[in-house]
Amino acid sequence: MTDQSSNQMWGGRFAAGPDAIMEAINASIGFDQRMAAQDIAGSRAHAAMLAATGVISDSDAQAIREGLLTVLSEIQSGTFQFSTALEDIHMNVEARLKEIIGEPAGRLHTGRSRNDQVATDFKLWVRDQLDAAENGLLALIRALLAQAEAGAEWVMPGFTHLQAAQPVTWGHHMMAYVEMFGRDLSRVRDARTRMNESPLGAAALAGTSFPIDRQMTAEALGFDRPAANSLDAVSDRDFALEFLSTASICAVHLSRFAEELVIWSSAQFRFVTLSDRFSTGSSIMPQKKNPDAAELIRAKVGRIYGANTALMMVMKGLPLAYSKDMQEDKEQVFDAADNWMLALAAMEGMVKDMTANRESLAAAAGSGFSTATDLADWLVRVLGLPFRDAHHVTGSLVALAEGKGCDLPDLTLVDMQSVHADITENVFSVLTVDNSVNSRQSYGGTAPDQVRAQIERWKAMV
Ligand code: ARG
Repeated sequence: MTDQSSNQMWGGRFAAGPDAIMEAINASIGFDQRMAAQDIAGSRAHAAMLAATGVISDSDAQAIREGLLTVLSEIQSGTFQFSTALEDIHMNVEARLKEIIGEPAGRLHTGRSRNDQVATDFKLWVRDQLDAAENGLLALIRALLAQAEAGAEWVMPGFTHLQAAQPVTWGHHMMAYVEMFGRDLSRVRDARTRMNESPLGAAALAGTSFPIDRQMTAEALGFDRPAANSLDAVSDRDFALEFLSTASICAVHLSRFAEELVIWSSAQFRFVTLSDRFSTGSSIMPQKKNPDAAELIRAKVGRIYGANTALMMVMKGLPLAYSKDMQEDKEQVFDAADNWMLALAAMEGMVKDMTANRESLAAAAGSGFSTATDLADWLVRVLGLPFRDAHHVTGSLVALAEGKGCDLPDLTLVDMQSVHADITENVFSVLTVDNSVNSRQSYGGTAPDQVRAQIERWKAMV
């Protein structure tokens, strides 16, 4: 006889129950209850398969499948009593099933183990999150496309080193982020395709002697096929790592955009006005309107990439197959997923609501000698100067304008000719910002025609 206090699921060989500290470090029910729906879906598929292959009776399978639905509704309605002594979601569900349907519950675990069960549950959970991320990215991309379309030809400064470099268009800048989030979208889709193999039926590590049908459970759970190696199936957490690395790269993109919104919404820039709905006030400075959502999105990469690093370290050097270390996978992924989805939704909301200040953008676009490259290109094209010489002549003209406290278009022809005698009146035609952006017709360039072509290409895809 075993001690009454030993574990009812695996306590057969134990004379005493676990120490309270052992129970505390061992239990995952505090967090893995988030996988209850996936756990029950996996068990229902497994039970149906066990009956179809004659491993258990149809009536037992039916009792199990119906009982599991009762358990699910108890969990969803909040009446389920989770027990730390039962360690995890798998044993909590099975123990409750036993209370509801009695003896047939004990047949559910035939031909499987918690090792393939947890891998299956977690994969189903991560797969749902990839689908949510796909939807979040699509919504954000559509919001960016609407901004790009509204301001395809609005001029603004383009920066390198955060110094005014060359004028660009608002639409072009928005479309740069469409490209980034578009790559995130393709990473999400890739990851989903690669991870969609079922671990169920790998059992503890070696497969099982029962005549199970892994194809059947894989299909029932929406997997493309069963995973082909049972050792790998129970010890693989690549899908979680890919989820986290995909989330991390996307969070980097979100943080870069968030940083630009913080800068652009400042009184010194005034490039955009964020909506009241996505801003906050200060409790001491009545005039303030702070871009808190953007700042928090900027920060999210810290915890998301932190989760990625943490799980990489957990998995590093683990021998095959399952080790309990792997229980440390879930909290990282849950937290990263929650924050990724929130950041995507907040960014979409901010982008939808924000107003680009066309006049401020245009005023800034012309300052800082932003058409100097256009001037150098004119010297090459019209006067036939080698580019290096044209660069030098333009540098002298910039210095001259700087000395006079004016911009390049404000120099006189006499000023220009004092630096290079062959310059003609025609040079002034290339010094306007509109001319500058309109001339950049190379594929992927900032000219409004090019930007509109890219908007159309994207609209056909999303
Ligand atoms: N709670 C465990 C986890 O999350 C489930 C698998 C436990 N397997 C075992 N052999 N102890 O990893």
